[in-house]
Amino acid sequence: MSATARKTAPLPDDIRARKGGEPLVSLTAYTTPMAQMMDEHCDFVLVGDSVGMVLHGLPSTLGVTMEMMIMHGQAVARGLRQAMMVIDMPFGSYEESPQQAFRNAARLMAETGAGAVKLEGGTHMAETIAFLVARGIPVMAHVGLTPQSINTLGGYKVQGRDDAGAALMADAQAVTEAGAFAVVLEKVPANLADQITAEVDIPTIGIGASAGCDGQILVVDDMLGLFTAFKAKFVKRYAELGKEGEASIARYAREVRTRSFPGPEHIFADQAPGKG
Ligand code: KIV
Repeated sequence: MSATARKTAPLPDDIRARKGGEPLVSLTAYTTPMAQMMDEHCDFVLVGDSVGMVLHGLPSTLGVTMEMMIMHGQAVARGLRQAMMVIDMPFGSYEESPQQAFRNAARLMAETGAGAVKLEGGTHMAETIAFLVARGIPVMAHVGLTPQSINTLGGYKVQGRDDAGAALMADAQAVTEAGAFAVVLEKVPANLADQITAEVDIPTIGIGASAGCDGQILVVDDMLGLFTAFKAKFVKRYAELGKEGEASIARYAREVRTRSFPGPEHIFADQAPGKG
């Protein structure tokens, strides 16, 4: 965030207006304490459906439900005062029809207080995005590697290489024309991300894309070293909290077994101090 601290959460239009300016900062969050930690530093916080993998141990994001998103969305909302909250629409909650998408997006926003929803897909989701935007639901789009389509994409591969670049550019243009206020570009070659950023007039938010994007997002558990099942090339570890946490738990276990925890400072006397 810039030196002038914000007091109120930006609106989707404020995020859109940051196109070409100071890079937008974003992380995912799933809990109140994490949201509190990042509130001052992020322009927007995404309640990502990555919650299924990083907090619930699911093998992909496909098993994430509306109820899970709402519960984590409510937790994150309690921790935010100045960053905007965007919430992911889970797999199966929007693909069937614009009407289904509206019903579920409205529920996510009403029950969590999110300022916008994010959904995956380019050209084929443009009609749905336009339908939502026309009915008061700000939409962040997500193109490139779209993890909810992992079974048709055939793995977590870089998208838009070689001939596929034109289709990805068309996806970004389609969601822009449909009225999305920003678009996440996941796992696309840096040159293509730069071309898309130059071409579309909404902010591009990179994850495994390019430093030239209008903003960046990472999964918070990845960048803090809390999610260690695998590490994508695009993840930079800013801390190793998982390792530190495990070492601390091992120390606690040793101290319990040797009766060195609890120590005198952690236990209570028969009488309160000063009572004779
Ligand atoms: O669910 C998520 O965390 C996401 C980000 C990776 C963009 O969609």
